[in-house]
Amino acid sequence: MAMAAGIDGISFYSSQYFVDLRKLADARGVDPAKYAEGLGQLSMGVVPPDEDVITLGASAAAPLVSRYQADEFDIVMFATESGVDESKAGAIYIRHLLGLSRECRVVELKQACYSSTVGLQLALSYVRAHPNRKVLLVASDIARYGLGTPGEPTQGCGAVAMVVSMQPRVLVVDSPSGYYTEDVMDFWRPCYSNEAFVDGKFSAKLYLATLEHTWNAYVRKSGLKFEDHDRFCYHLPFSRMAEKAHARLAAGVGSIVNGANRSGEDPPGLSVDPRIADGLIYNRVTGNSYSASLYLGLTSLLDNSREDLGGKRIGFFSYGSGCSAEFYSGTVSTGYRSQLFVEEHHQHLQRRTELSVIDYEKMFQFRLPTDGGNYPTPNYRTGRFRFAGLVNHKRIYGEAEATAARVSPHVGINGAAAAISGQELRTHDR
Ligand code: CAA
Repeated sequence: MAMAAGIDGISFYSSQYFVDLRKLADARGVDPAKYAEGLGQLSMGVVPPDEDVITLGASAAAPLVSRYQADEFDIVMFATESGVDESKAGAIYIRHLLGLSRECRVVELKQACYSSTVGLQLALSYVRAHPNRKVLLVASDIARYGLGTPGEPTQGCGAVAMVVSMQPRVLVVDSPSGYYTEDVMDFWRPCYSNEAFVDGKFSAKLYLATLEHTWNAYVRKSGLKFEDHDRFCYHLPFSRMAEKAHARLAAGVGSIVNGANRSGEDPPGLSVDPRIADGLIYNRVTGNSYSASLYLGLTSLLDNSREDLGGKRIGFFSYGSGCSAEFYSGTVSTGYRSQLFVEEHHQHLQRRTELSVIDYEKMFQFRLPTDGGNYPTPNYRTGRFRFAGLVNHKRIYGEAEATAARVSPHVGINGAAAAISGQELRTHDR
């Protein structure tokens, strides 16, 4: 019998702050129903100045890796399109913060929201060749389009951590993939820009067109049909996008191929199919988390499904602008529920602090100076880890309690704080 490769554990973290999209709609003079119904989004996560993709990713991974030995991981992969350094892989910080062994490979992966999926496929190939070893895959992103832009209500943040192994207690990835790449400019972020540029309508059309390409290739290679799948998870820029994609797949990709649905119009009778509904719950309140979002959808589905999904097949559609896409499927492992972090995830979302639109705008605009000085970040609520500030162009990270103690509490996003002296990460190598 062929050995199974897949996901042995999965956990997520977003931020401690959010904006209610009804209030954002009021502030922007937009009908709140546009965000709630038109986009399917209720709120969006906002990162404070002392969180970034590194702290989000490390906080997502911490509870998961604590179940393993520090030396079980051969590779830490970090998938992001909101990287903090053009050279150094974020995986190096994450390995250090988590106290994993130094005898470990690290890499940062980029291809918009798709890089987590290529990371997963590479990790699966690796563990098949090294069956006693594991890969830690962390996907982490902060979606930024700019204040008052059409993309603003589709911002958000979040990170998902997965352990990939040959003893997968959560999901066996057991199908060939259909994949597709094309050179297009629907969404991009030049190195000099903090916000993405996007041709929103074009990006949505490409999302659906690549669904068609990848689904057809997947069906050709796997011999599986739509009815062979019990649930579906789609990349989640906003939840209505997944609903539209699913409605098209359900209506038959053949009709898309033949041109009947090429106009961008919805098929009639669009409603949230129970095959996707549980997977949308977390994204509706965190917003887009780019590379993490498909796997936030998987976490949401597994955590929130009342039905035991053991033995059920899930179809996955991953889309990254620019663009690359992939369709594959996996089978949920029997007994998967004991591996989940349902309580922790629900509590995390319930305990977030709501921001006024004005405070969100201030947080959005916060920047540390980049002149090489010694600049601590103001102290906000974070997960287990904090971005403590910049010293001589070096980013300082550490445990939240240790680093927060070095600045006065909550100095405000415009306030200066005491200088930090940390030349090193405050961590605990295990
Ligand atoms: N009540 C209910 N619904 C309303 C409404 C109201 N009062 N007013 C508008 N709507 C509906 C619209 O009919 C529309 O729904 P349909 O598409 O089903 O017709 C929906 O709300 C959105 O309205 P608009 O199309 O007018 O919205 P917009 O032009 O202001 O912007 C957007 C929408 C293009 C998605 C924009 O938010 C954007 O650019 N977002 C970023 C790009 C993005 O998310 N692209 C997705 C695919 S690319 C990808 O997936 C990669 C990635 O992560 C970025």
